[in-house]
Amino acid sequence: MNSAIIKGKRIIRCTIYAILHLSGIVIIFNPPCPSLVTMSCIDFFLNRRTIRKYSDKPIPEKVQHTILEAGRRAASAVNRQPWHFIIVEDQGLKTKLAETGRWRSFIKESAFTVVGCHVTDDEVSRRWGQVDVVIAMQSMSLAAEVQGVGSCWIGDYEDKEISETLGVPEGVKVVGLMSFGYPDEEPAQRPKKPAEEIFHYNKW
Ligand SMILES: Cc1cc2nc3c(=O)[nH]c(=O)nc-3n(C[C@H](O)[C@H](O)[C@H](O)COP(=O)(O)O)c2cc1C
Repeated sequence: MNSAIIKGKRIIRCTIYAILHLSGIVIIFNPPCPSLVTMSCIDFFLNRRTIRKYSDKPIPEKVQHTILEAGRRAASAVNRQPWHFIIVEDQGLKTKLAETGRWRSFIKESAFTVVGCHVTDDEVSRRWGQVDVVIAMQSMSLAAEVQGVGSCWIGDYEDKEISETLGVPEGVKVVGLMSFGYPDEEPAQRPKKPAEEIFHYNKW
């Protein structure tokens, strides 16, 4: 689907939401919120979908910068920030990464793909590095989402292959890949487990 249409639909959704919110109708369904911006962010978060089909529209530098900043400023154990991120923009490298895997062919159409890694040279980084990198990359994904950029987590890779292709040094562990790009699809929400099955208040 054309990304301009998808963007247009988003704007229409946000406008309708703003009108409902300002007229008080939304308050019937949601408690009052401090600001409309917050509400629309929540709306984006709740409607997030994995995006695997990207348009060829380039991502402005400022938008990409904000996405990466969301990762750089994320929480990490003891503020150790044991992470490194490789931002793969080169078409040859994206194509190479896409062609060698089964569930990541869409990397070649992504605007860029981030490879999240962590160092393993101290106890805290070994224990929490993976969690830290996941938090940072999920922050990037949400920062992308609110700016209209889609993303997809990619777990379909071999550490050795990624490390060799991208020159990841010894002792650095690859945690995950995430592709980014303006959506060229608008998939329906995937089924999610009901709240009562997964939330345990106070005790299991
Ligand atoms: C750790 C992880 C690894 C994933 N790996 C892949 C992958 O290799 N290829 C892919 O197409 N999607 C991958 N996904 C995306 C999931 O398939 C997707 O999140 C899931 O189907 C739920 O859809 P939703 O994100 O739209 O709710 C991965 C997601 C996570 C969290």
